[in-house]
Amino acid sequence: MSKNSRILCPQLKHLVMSAEEAAKLISPGANVGMSGFTGAGYPKAVPGALAERIRAHNAQGGKPFRINVLTGASTAPELDGKLAEVDGIEMRLPFQSDPICRDRINSGTMNYADYHLSEVAQYAWSGFFGKMDIAIIEVVGIREDGSLIPSSSLGNNKTWIEQADKVILEVNYKQHERLEGMHDVYYGAALPPHRKPIMLTEPNQRIGDLYLRCPIEKVVAIVETNAPDRNTPFKQPDDASRRIAEHILAFFEREIKIGRLPKELLPLQSGVGNIPNAVLEALDTGPYKNLTAYTEVIQDGMLKMLKSGTLQMASATAFSLSPEGLAEFDENIEFYREKILLRSQDISNHPEVARRLGIIATNGMIEADIYGNVNSTHIMGTRMMNGIGGSGDFARNGYLSIFMSPSTAKGGKISSIVPMVSHVDHTEHDVKIIVTEQGLADLRGLSPRQRARSIIENCAHPDFKDQLHDYFERACASGRGMHTPHLLNEALSWHERFEQTGDMK
Ligand code: COA
Repeated sequence: MSKNSRILCPQLKHLVMSAEEAAKLISPGANVGMSGFTGAGYPKAVPGALAERIRAHNAQGGKPFRINVLTGASTAPELDGKLAEVDGIEMRLPFQSDPICRDRINSGTMNYADYHLSEVAQYAWSGFFGKMDIAIIEVVGIREDGSLIPSSSLGNNKTWIEQADKVILEVNYKQHERLEGMHDVYYGAALPPHRKPIMLTEPNQRIGDLYLRCPIEKVVAIVETNAPDRNTPFKQPDDASRRIAEHILAFFEREIKIGRLPKELLPLQSGVGNIPNAVLEALDTGPYKNLTAYTEVIQDGMLKMLKSGTLQMASATAFSLSPEGLAEFDENIEFYREKILLRSQDISNHPEVARRLGIIATNGMIEADIYGNVNSTHIMGTRMMNGIGGSGDFARNGYLSIFMSPSTAKGGKISSIVPMVSHVDHTEHDVKIIVTEQGLADLRGLSPRQRARSIIENCAHPDFKDQLHDYFERACASGRGMHTPHLLNEALSWHERFEQTGDMK
């Protein structure tokens, strides 16, 4: 151990070992709670060592070695990718975005349970996932009293440590020491009927501790690492995302003018991905000052907004930065640490807080139907893309829920506006605004038939507009229920046609 060791607790120092030795402490069939949220703060060494152990075990035949992997949200190739590659995951939850995992999920060789991210801790406390055998948590350091300095994501770490019989800690020296002090770990959560209000009335309030508590006797191994987070580069905003951002900004301006939004807007929640990031970049060029964010993830766009003063502060549960974003953050960490708070995901996504603060939720979608139901997760109704993530937490409980997508996919062969979505994540009752590069449909106060006209007119691509009008008019003329007219034998025919011919037209 070096003299710059970040392991200050005397009772724990003797537990430092290699990732391979630590991986031996994980048994086949174990329920393993791992840190990690949107490619930040996940364990970098033990999952890979465990994957090697699984590969060696399975090469000898016999009962396959598989574990159940529970995290905050998505991780990285070093975790999901490596374990999925050796077919080492029996059950994965609550969110992933790894291509190898995705293949396994969609080929039926990996179970996947896709949950609202705010609810996972409650499910674990209630015992729905069974006993938590072991937690593997990345930290920045271990303090003298055994408390833990959290890393670049908090996610479900508090819950996994509380629930697990044993804890493996990865101390990552690559994570900036000055992350210390940026966390707010709330220890007041309880199960019903013992709940108390979450006393957050502003995004910047602190209600918890700086550190994760961890009983010293639970710790069975400490692995030292020195590896960066996933840090995926962002694509430059393309024409479609720029136009989507323009429509949203014009909408905000109108809402401010008629007094429905204050000039500082309301706390922003911004989903992960290139379109939400483009919206943030566009906001940064607008007239806005002193905005706030109460969101899941800090992306590059938010750092820029903090730097320029467009954003006053941001509350989240994790970072999700590009390599350039990370370099900027590390270089100017003294500036950012005053303006960013990381919370556990049951608090960053808490329905009570989202409703109280009146969040403006902006999230990507796969498709929407003419009545405003949104599919965020399933390609052609059956194949899992990533998962619902926090989009449902914010869409249902926020003040404004905005869903965004280019109007077509796969080179124009797929319309993102369809007669009926092939899977529903967000119902027409939760979706307030739909935006594509074609325009914005404000669904508030509209009946289903009014919504259909607005969505087709404002959001559909010209190549699909006549086809959608034709479907809707024939559904209206069919003489069936006029509240939400549908031709049931045709409603999903667009998806079927794409599956058969490779084109929805
Ligand atoms: N039908 C079929 N495929 C579609 C499609 C549609 N209607 N719309 C998009 N796709 C495909 C794209 O072609 C692309 O495929 P590829 O990876 O083979 O190129 C893929 O889906 C991703 O689409 P893209 O346009 O790059 O979107 P994105 O990166 O902005 O992601 C979601 C869009 C919906 C997948 C993403 O926002 C998501 O996972 N949302 C759910 C979770 C969430 O909202 N989290 C935020 C809360 S914090």
